[in-house]
Amino acid sequence: SKETPEEPLVGAVVQGTNSTRFLVFNPKTAELVGSHQVELTQEYPKEGWVEEDPKEILQSVYECIAKTCEKLTEANIDTSKIKAIGVSNQRETTVVWDKFTGEPLYNAVVWLDLRTQSTVESLNKKIPGNSNFVKSKTGLPLSTYFSAVKLRWMLDNLRPIQKAVEEDRALFGTIDSWLIWCMTGGVNGGIHCTDVTNASRTMLFNIHSLEWDKELCKFFEIPMSILPNVRSSSEIYGQMTSGALEGVPISGCLGDQSAALVGQMCFQEGQAKNTYGTGCFLLCNTGQKCVFSEHGLLTTVAYKLGKNKPAFYALEGSVAIAGAVIRWLRDNFELITSSGEVEDLAREVGTAYGCYFVPAFSGLYAPYWEPSARGIICGLTQFTNKCHIAFAALEAVCFQTREIVDAMNRDCGIPLSHLRVDGRMTNNKILMQLQADILHIPVVKSVMPETTALGAAMAAGAAEGIDVWSIEPEDLSSMLMERYEPQIQATESEIRFSTWKRAVMKSMGWVT
Ligand code: G3P
Repeated sequence: SKETPEEPLVGAVVQGTNSTRFLVFNPKTAELVGSHQVELTQEYPKEGWVEEDPKEILQSVYECIAKTCEKLTEANIDTSKIKAIGVSNQRETTVVWDKFTGEPLYNAVVWLDLRTQSTVESLNKKIPGNSNFVKSKTGLPLSTYFSAVKLRWMLDNLRPIQKAVEEDRALFGTIDSWLIWCMTGGVNGGIHCTDVTNASRTMLFNIHSLEWDKELCKFFEIPMSILPNVRSSSEIYGQMTSGALEGVPISGCLGDQSAALVGQMCFQEGQAKNTYGTGCFLLCNTGQKCVFSEHGLLTTVAYKLGKNKPAFYALEGSVAIAGAVIRWLRDNFELITSSGEVEDLAREVGTAYGCYFVPAFSGLYAPYWEPSARGIICGLTQFTNKCHIAFAALEAVCFQTREIVDAMNRDCGIPLSHLRVDGRMTNNKILMQLQADILHIPVVKSVMPETTALGAAMAAGAAEGIDVWSIEPEDLSSMLMERYEPQIQATESEIRFSTWKRAVMKSMGWVT
């Protein structure tokens, strides 16, 4: 049996689009001492709609905490050593619940959901003289992606929510708010809060003043009384009121992409990471200033690690579909029975053989922001088989990343010399090699793959005076990392990338 560590332990909830996890770290070494994962159900009630059940999400968090604690106890690790919990979460996904019953008033509308396309169109027509009105305050383009339009749709279409707002019973939140409110007591005094990183994805938050913006709330006609209090990413929000970790403070909160930036130790201006999850998100730290993109990237709050600490910002390239294309090949297409198989299929052929797959299932995000795009598979011949399609799906993730790296390089002026990566897809060696080939720069996989959880644990630990993995960034370079060097000629990367771009053009304008 394992030795009980002397140090306190820190836990992290990672509530992603696809799954929920709870991970416990030994702060000194960042060693993972226990974890548990639960996959989540996604509902597609209509074409383009994506929902999840807020109660299933909450239960999955409790289940992950309980199971992790059981595993720790079996390993002779005392769970009372867990002194702080951090929360990191899928961003933008929108929940409205009743503060008196604690019941969600509708399913969570997931960030990928496209139902608000016409809401976006009508809001676009309403934008006052200055067409930069929303972007200049929020750093975001008006898109189906962000919470404000989802909330607007809910208020327009769901009578129970309208009624709850009229009767002052409704609370709005992204997943972090929903979880923290429930975990700190719910109807019995739950804390209704969010952090600056999650708030910056709602489209109601002014990223300069770091407050909810009255003009934006007026524009979207959102009552400010339903919004959570905005706090820093590292402070005590409240204590767990039930379960194995009752009484433990929740003291860290970050959107998952911000958490990964922190977990990758990208604290210097110009440091960037790309996380391959359901989507793919490249964030580049721009220091304490907001940099606005000329090439389709977002400006977002990266982190604010303490009440009195400054906010740091990031430029972000968001790709909606990365790991989700593998789930689609498994669940919708039944091409594979488990995600891991995609690597074997791709390895069998080692090429897509002229087949290109643009997985624009939710339109295209950065750098295009084109809601009319839909997925296409093209370049098919009688020779094409499922291996080629699997390869093309992996290649699509790499091409989409190439598009945002190119945009980032143009915005920043200094091209990235290598790409730091994390996320569960980075276990796929074919994908990583392809990424290096298509970018034509080295791809470096983090020494510690659980970067999202680590970032949340670092934020939670900091608020409780516990240094999680207080390693100097310079020492990182001496640690073992997996490095992938480009193995094809730059001209070949360029030819494949330009064909990809032709395929992207074909995917656009599919819905009018
Ligand atoms: O903006 C959406 C993002 O936070 C989702 O992350 O890890 O579920 O792909 P993930």
